[in-house]
Amino acid sequence: MAMDIIDTATTFARLNAAKTETRTRSWPWVTLSYAQTLDGSIAAEPGKLFDISSPETMQMTHRLRTGHDAILVGIGTVLADDSLLNVRLVDGKDPQPIILDSRLRTPLDSRLIRRSDLHPWIVCAPAAGKDQDAALTATGARLLRVDLGPDGCLSLPRMLECLKSLGIASIMVEGGSRVISSFLQADLVDWAVVTISPRWAGGLPAYDRGAGSPSDLPHLIDPEYQQCGPDLVVSGRVAQ
Ligand SMILES: NC(=O)c1ccc[n+]([C@@H]2O[C@H](COP(=O)([O-])OP(=O)(O)OC[C@H]3O[C@@H](n4cnc5c(N)ncnc54)[C@H](OP(=O)(O)O)[C@@H]3O)[C@@H](O)[C@H]2O)c1
Repeated sequence: MAMDIIDTATTFARLNAAKTETRTRSWPWVTLSYAQTLDGSIAAEPGKLFDISSPETMQMTHRLRTGHDAILVGIGTVLADDSLLNVRLVDGKDPQPIILDSRLRTPLDSRLIRRSDLHPWIVCAPAAGKDQDAALTATGARLLRVDLGPDGCLSLPRMLECLKSLGIASIMVEGGSRVISSFLQADLVDWAVVTISPRWAGGLPAYDRGAGSPSDLPHLIDPEYQQCGPDLVVSGRVAQ
């Protein structure tokens, strides 16, 4: 029997109770949330928008967004999806949009940049171009310069500490594949809420474990399974 969106209330109750545990640490609570197909694809083709969520799970995702101070995606997702990352399907506060964009490739005509209510924060490398810097800040976007890690990508621990110092206590990471992989590989995810759509796509995998050992994989502790419209929502605390 298909369940209504109301049935995901227990998912949110568990998540909200757990979130209070990290109030005193130096980086924010991190929830990872994305939608995948039965074969673990988050897009049918890399770099292309692919609507995976049903209307019911899309509404659930918007409700989840309202419970976080910020929402974060990688520049690959901005270029592919051009999403607003706001909350339209439920009542509630919009989270602060944040883009991981070390080289400042965020297009000036992207919908996130053109938002008039909340200007995005763009996390970039210390040496990212001054020309783009000026053009982006002129739109109201805020640039946060963060050191690169040993892998040449933006250091996620440094970024998270910076965000906490700016008052961000909870953050929802929505993708895409490289960002999901980086957060999981770095053991920086507290909770995951993954929507599984009952179809196959043979597309872009959600997770690449990189050099990680197959015997040391991130997993959910005490996972919860909820049907939401035609989809399954799997959620719980993440451990390595
Ligand atoms: N189904 C879903 O729920 C869902 C959600 C979101 C996205 N998507 C899909 O995912 C695809 C995009 O995924 P993607 O892997 O190509 O791009 P992505 O993960 O959105 O962005 C990756 C880019 O972010 C930048 N970055 C900077 N620091 C990083 C770090 N520490 N770790 C990871 N990335 C970092 C890098 O670009 P620079 O080197 O230029 O900084 C990197 O190439 C699209 O097709 C989109 O539709 C699906």
